[in-house]
Amino acid sequence: MSTTRLAVEVDKLSRRFGDFAAVQEVSFYIPEGEIFGLLGPNGAGKTTTIRMLCGLMKPSGGRATVLGMDVMRQAEGIKKRIGYMSQAFSLYDDLTVVGNLAFYAAVYSVPRRERQARLEELVQVTNLTGLEHRLVRHLSGAMRQRLALACALVHRPDMIFLDEPTAGVDPLARRAFWDLIYSMAGQGVSVLATTHYMDEAEYCNTVGMMYAGRMVAVASPAALRARLPGVLYQLDVRPIERAQEVLEGSPGVLDTSIHGALLHVVLAEAAVEGELQPRLEAAGLEVGRIESTEPSLEDVFISLVEDRERHPAASSILAPPVED
Ligand SMILES: Nc1ncnc2c1ncn2[C@@H]1O[C@H](COP(=O)(O)OP(=O)(O)OP(=O)(O)O)[C@@H](O)[C@H]1O
Ligand SMILES: [Mg+2]
Repeated sequence: MSTTRLAVEVDKLSRRFGDFAAVQEVSFYIPEGEIFGLLGPNGAGKTTTIRMLCGLMKPSGGRATVLGMDVMRQAEGIKKRIGYMSQAFSLYDDLTVVGNLAFYAAVYSVPRRERQARLEELVQVTNLTGLEHRLVRHLSGAMRQRLALACALVHRPDMIFLDEPTAGVDPLARRAFWDLIYSMAGQGVSVLATTHYMDEAEYCNTVGMMYAGRMVAVASPAALRARLPGVLYQLDVRPIERAQEVLEGSPGVLDTSIHGALLHVVLAEAAVEGELQPRLEAAGLEVGRIESTEPSLEDVFISLVEDRERHPAASSILAPPVED
């Protein structure tokens, strides 16, 4: 029997703007203390989903609970128990780091006698020590992001929603930020974070991939990778676009896609690998390295979106319920 409690339960949640369906029958759940990553390109419906769960926007259909409270009927209760770091996180440029924290502590009614200690703790946890009295307008992007997270945590929420918390910061800062999120989850805080960066999904217990308002897959990163059919190779070959034309649809090749300077090729079986070089050279291409590689979540995402475009009504892959 599963005793896992759920921080979030979403069942066929939808939102329309006029005739436009921004979120269509999205379903997923988040066990308490887990990190759920919502991935998808611009306009996929990630922010709209988050805003409905935070009680900031009414769904047009379906239902959802957050920390056991219904988003339709108990929005005010939800807002008190969650932290929300919005995509355009709202910091006050002309206030200092502690000025912003004090403002949010007041907004969230943190008891006055606890505020000082809480602020000091947050400054330390989010690595802002030494910057307490700096104006926000003089902070770097990564510092602002850590401060926005601190502001979202000021009232010790049981769950936090982070909408693209790491957009536009360098890889080291992104990593440091995820370390912070990890340690919060370790303390039992449930997390839903959206991102465009597929590599960040590796930090999540479960990943939901959204595309054009629909959830195209929900599963652990490993389960998502495992469902990519065939075996993946990466090729260093010039010119890459021409190589893609040569291999796409050729015998034994299931799929091709360009990843930076490398061509990713999904083969039906490893035996086809030996034929790649002769085929490319026969077409006059210069072939460098050919090596097998683990599929990234980006490969999985591309494959799922292509499937979805071929079969628009296909159901999404849902992870089986957690049993422990
Ligand atoms: N208030 C609104 N009125 C009309 N359309 C809207 C509104 N809010 C969002 N949309 C549309 O709904 C779709 C989903 O938007 P949403 O902001 O949820 O996407 P997203 O996945 O967060 O994208 P991004 O990665 O760019 O932040 C988009 O096509 C957007 O233009
Ligand atoms: Mg968004």
